[in-house]
Amino acid sequence: MVNQVIKVKNLRKYYKVHQKEPGLIGSIKSFFSRKYYDVKAVENVSFTIDEGELIGFIGPNGAGKTTTLKVLSGLLYPTSGDVSVLGYEPFKRQSEFQKQFSLVMGQKNQLWWDLPPWESFILNKEIYEIPEEQFKKTVEELSRMLEITDILKIQVRKLSLGQRMKAELVAALLHNPKVLFLDEPTIGLDVLAQKKMRDFIKEYNLKFNATIILTSHYMGDVRELCNRVIIIDKGQILYDGLLDDIVQKFAPYKVIKADLEKEVDEKKLSGVGEVKEYRDLQVIIHVPKDEASKKAAKLLGKFPVADLTIEDPPIEDIIRTVFSKGMDI
Ligand SMILES: Nc1ncnc2c1ncn2[C@@H]1O[C@H](COP(=O)(O)OP(=O)(O)OP(=O)(O)O)[C@@H](O)[C@H]1O
Ligand SMILES: [Mg+2]
Repeated sequence: MVNQVIKVKNLRKYYKVHQKEPGLIGSIKSFFSRKYYDVKAVENVSFTIDEGELIGFIGPNGAGKTTTLKVLSGLLYPTSGDVSVLGYEPFKRQSEFQKQFSLVMGQKNQLWWDLPPWESFILNKEIYEIPEEQFKKTVEELSRMLEITDILKIQVRKLSLGQRMKAELVAALLHNPKVLFLDEPTIGLDVLAQKKMRDFIKEYNLKFNATIILTSHYMGDVRELCNRVIIIDKGQILYDGLLDDIVQKFAPYKVIKADLEKEVDEKKLSGVGEVKEYRDLQVIIHVPKDEASKKAAKLLGKFPVADLTIEDPPIEDIIRTVFSKGMDI
């Protein structure tokens, strides 16, 4: 039987924000009578996630992703709705629950800035009551996988962003959590470090059958790691389903890229399809999906083509369409 590890039903999270009129008079007034208004960060969100799933939780800035993950981690109390993770209500912060999940935030430092990662690890060992043997083995294994064994004794403030993020991840995984909330774990990393991080997340997911929610603004992360995505915007879910299905629905075209042997008239190229770009002998043409091979053949037959590929449109473009136009276009 499938085990639903995460259950969220009609979750709302409103932040109460103190409204202050500008200037000194405003400050004095608001000191005596405080006015509040609600920021509706999450508005009636429901989803369930099965054990071992690795899902992408995506949406534009301010959509409500971090807020949702904080509620799931018990850092925020829900305004209304039901939330259950591994059978626990997160905001009760029971220690058995705390020992089974981890929240990693790419934007926020959880390691001690003035200490080397190693000492933060030891602190976590105490907090999570990790047995000595398991601790040693896990640090060794994770550090090796992420290639940071030689920086564990260097002050965190002296590490590069990528080294620090990897150390953050090791610290968060020492107690071997079954559930992981990864909030932009690859933000600001270079292409290589991003790839390492992705490989590692995938491996952790498979090795421990861990349930993972991943937010990222890099569609490469989502494309490589997640079959299922939940798209959220303005606190509401726009889509919950397979990434492939969105691609099918929103990408009725294919992209033909061709290198030409010599200059040709751009007007003539547009007889093949919609020319999106043409410079330095390289042309990018959009054609209807079901006519892709026919159009490619036409291109090959009529023009001096040195090389040609047919691709799906980039996921970035598709997701942007969903954000700007919604799901029902
Ligand atoms: N502590 C807070 N007090 C008041 N409003 C907040 C607070 N934290 C977040 N918000 C607001 O709640 C909404 C959702 O924010 P949240 O951080 O969850 O978005 P997000 O999807 O994680 O965005 P991003 O992609 O930029 O990280 C935003 O409008 C934000 O301004
Ligand atoms: Mg966020």
